[in-house]
Parts: sequence; C-alpha cells; structure tokens
Amino acid sequence: MEYTDVSLKPYNTFGIDVRARRLVVYDDIEELRRVIAAREGLDATPVLHIGSGSNLLFLGDYEGLVLYCNIRNLDVVREDGDSMILNVGAGWIMDDFIAECVRNRWYGLENLSHIPGQVGASAVQNIGAYGVEAADNIVSVHCVDLNDGSARTFLKTECNYGYRHSIFKEDGVRGRYAVVSVDYRLSRKFVPRLEYGGVLKALEENHISVSADVPPGWRPLTAQNLRETIIGIRRQKLPDPKILGNAGSFFMNPVIPKAQFDVLRTEFPDMPSYVVDEERVKVPAGWMIEQCGWKGRSLGRAAVHDRQALVLVNKGGATGKDIVALCEAIRASVLSRFGITISPEVNFI
Ligand code: EPU
Repeated sequence: MEYTDVSLKPYNTFGIDVRARRLVVYDDIEELRRVIAAREGLDATPVLHIGSGSNLLFLGDYEGLVLYCNIRNLDVVREDGDSMILNVGAGWIMDDFIAECVRNRWYGLENLSHIPGQVGASAVQNIGAYGVEAADNIVSVHCVDLNDGSARTFLKTECNYGYRHSIFKEDGVRGRYAVVSVDYRLSRKFVPRLEYGGVLKALEENHISVSADVPPGWRPLTAQNLRETIIGIRRQKLPDPKILGNAGSFFMNPVIPKAQFDVLRTEFPDMPSYVVDEERVKVPAGWMIEQCGWKGRSLGRAAVHDRQALVLVNKGGATGKDIVALCEAIRASVLSRFGITISPEVNFI
C-alpha cells in the first residue's frame, strides 16, 4: 500500500502532526524489494523505516520515503525439549505477540508485556522492562539491506546488544537494514522473573502467591497473571498514547562510574541505583528529574508526566521542537544539580 503527502500523526505515539512525501506499508519481503529496486535517485531520497513510532520524535516534515512493515508470520522453526525457536514477522505488535505466546504456553517474554512498538523495533531497540531485555530471548534477526534488497541475518552475537543498544543503532549501520523477522527463543517451562523492584509488591497486592503454598483467597502465580500484573504496573505509571501523546521513557538511565556515585550518595543519600558491574552503576533519570522539580511541570504544550518523570507528554498540538525545548531544559537542570548528562532514548528525526 502506498500513500503520498501523508500525515504521520497516526504513525508516531507522540502524536506529532508532520507529513511524509511518500509512505509505503509492505506486507512481504518481495514487496519491500520491489520498492527498493524502483527507488529513484538511490542516494538522494532519504529513507526512514519506522515501527509503531513509539520511539520517534519528528522535528519537521519528512521529505523522503517512509517504510512501515506489515509482515505478520509466526512459525515454530525448532523445538528442542522444553525450548523452542519462533520466527516472528517484524510487523507484529510486540504485545500481541507476547499475548499469543502466553496463550500458547510459550514462556519468557511476560515481563515485556504492554511495551508499545513492533517486533522489529524490539530487536533494534533491545526493549526491556522489569529485569528482562528482548536480547535475553533473541536468537537472530533477519533483515533486508535497504541499499540493494539483499537478505542478511545477524546472529545475536553479531547484534552488539547492550542496555537499549544494538548494532542497528551504530554509525554506519543505523538506517541501513529493515528488520523483516526475528527468531525468539521461548520455553515451555514457566520460569518467572520477579527480582525487579515493584513486581513482587504488585503480585502481593493482587493476592497472587509466588510460593507453592497458596493461602486461602489467593491465586497461584501463572504467566497470564504475571502478564496482567505487569500491564497493571505500566498502566499506573505510563500514560496511554491514545489519550496523551508520549514515547515511553524519553531519556535513558545514565550509567556512571561507581566512584562518582559514591560521592553523589554522600550528598543525596536517597539516590536509587542499580549495579551494572563492579565499576559502574545505573541511576534512574526519572528520580533525578523529579528531584529537580520537573515532575508534572509544563513548558508550553509539552510536559513532564505527573506519575513518571522519565516520560515527556504532548499536551495537545505540541511540535517536535516544543518537546526538544523541554528536553533541553531538563537536561540542563539535571547536569547542574547532579553533574550527570542524561541522553534521550527517543530518536529525533
Ligand atoms: N523514580 C522517581 N520518580 C519518577 C520516576 C522514577 O523517583 O518520576 C524512581 C523510582 O521510584 C525508582 C526508580 O526511579 O526508584 C526507577 O523507576 P521505574 O521502576 O519506574 O523505572 P525507570 O528507570 O523509570 C525503566 C525503563 C522503563 C521500564 C522500567 C521498568 C529506561 C529508560 N526505562 O524506567 O522502560 O518499563 O524501567 O523496568 O530504562 C521505556 O523504555 O520506554 C520504558 C518505559
């Protein structure tokens, strides 16, 4: 399906109303290859491959070709005891895919429930929540080279996965490949991941028992009720993009040297942290932004969400530039108070 001079408002969760010169929604690899082959002025026309636009901020109209993947296969490619490998089309909405997995008793992705975006983007962004990252379960990523339409598969070891990072975000590779499908490894054995703060507490509030000894009136833990609990936590903190435009966490949590953290801790004893390794810790940017007094505050038509300071929202009619102005004001505050530079997780286009 092809559209010209089209609004991208439905294609970005911030709800920024910019236009693209051309948009192609493709249903299979052959269609994508035809579009690539027919492209005029190969180097002259910029190409942008989007997912559900849940991690994008458009700063202006896009004078080029926007691609959107609608490939939705789901195939079991290998079974090996309790473990299985699924090949899943990049056009699946990640949460629909996770719901399908839980329904089929294929386990491993429950903690990523309700994260917006497509399966293709999950492999690019290495989405993560509640102690689990997409990369924990990814086996390989199947791509098409947008330069010449050739196929290329990246094994997980070639993807350079890190916190919200992959090779697909690195210079020289960024923008070059369309992810067409991802191989995810799942398990028939349910091994819940409950160590991330907040999950156990929420299960308890829902009267879901994590021990084999289930008290009267409580339910035993299942993948389905863990998924529902995770969805509940996210709904409480994160605004629904259909009501209030946003792109989830706007900033990444900065990773700083432990020595720097130890000094900061003397001045800010309540500063939360997560150990990355022996020398580094991750500090929640949301906490620092709240400490700077930004939580719930607006700057024009852009605002900091009142229940989660890591999320910036479009109060209605904001432009990309309005959001950037707020972003820069926040970064300056955090730098001046804590001496830490925070960086957007969202991609500016
Ligand atoms: N915090 C505050 N004030 C706030 C927000 C957070 O004090 O306004 C504190 C919390 O009290 C807690 C800590 O910061 O001590 C961490 O907060 P939370 O558990 O809400 O997680 P986060 O660090 O803000 C990250 C991810 C989320 C993911 C959650 C849960 C990033 C950039 N964000 O947020 O991912 O859902 O952990 O795992 O790593 C996303 O990437 O879009 C996203 C939503």
